[in-house]
Amino acid sequence: MEVVILPGSKQIAALAADAIQVLLQRKPDAVLGLATGSSPLPIYSELALRHERDGLDFSQARAFALDEYVGLPAGHPESYREVITREFTGRVNISPANVHVPDGAAADIPAACQAYEDAIRAAGGVDLQLLGVGTDGHIGFNEPGSSLVSRTRIKTLIEQTRRDNARFFDSLAEVPHHVLTQGLGTILDARHVILVATGAQKAQTVRDLVEGPVAAICAASVLQLHPHATIMVDEAAASSLRLADYYRHSYDNKPPWQGL
Ligand code: F6R
Repeated sequence: MEVVILPGSKQIAALAADAIQVLLQRKPDAVLGLATGSSPLPIYSELALRHERDGLDFSQARAFALDEYVGLPAGHPESYREVITREFTGRVNISPANVHVPDGAAADIPAACQAYEDAIRAAGGVDLQLLGVGTDGHIGFNEPGSSLVSRTRIKTLIEQTRRDNARFFDSLAEVPHHVLTQGLGTILDARHVILVATGAQKAQTVRDLVEGPVAAICAASVLQLHPHATIMVDEAAASSLRLADYYRHSYDNKPPWQGL
């Protein structure tokens, strides 16, 4: 696990976009894992800018979203299918047919979850997975108590997560109780994961996930088991880390050949 402490969202967006750009240049049909929520938005804007300005090419790329609400009608503006299109994939030249989102409207939920796992595997697995983290330590929507080897499945949101996400809806009552989410085992299969967290409200979560025990009470702590996990945080989100100085020192003195 590498912790990269940067001044703010702008620098995080630039560095994460660099990683995606290098990947696409090496592997034009790379499989990207996409998170929704606020944390990755600056990264998506930076990628859209590079697409427009520099011709960064997504024409062969494939993408899999982490999760989707259950029960929102098709086309609901806050369904993650709509959000990911609006915030990212609709702003670059990725083929809509190559953008996959779990089917939260499926009549047969277990079959839809298995189909999602199968589609990721058929695509050759995720090359780079972007992640945010919930204040309760969830990644995807793997709430506390999720199995560390879980696969795509239905989960019930904790009330704290519903309250956190109510800002996207007209009222708390409209936030669904259920979601489909890639499991922690699914996320661990990605070849590289980049988790982004900003702001003081994430400081304790970042400490738990980076320096706490690997435990289902903080699902994101499972990333300590990942061979290539990059945790990008701003100063506020890093403010509770015990080893912050060591992470800064390691990053500042990193051999250039290592890349990200
Ligand atoms: C969304 C997702 C969630 C969010 C998390 C943080 O697809 O998987 O895990 O990343 O809830 O959300 P923000 O970034 O809005 O704080």
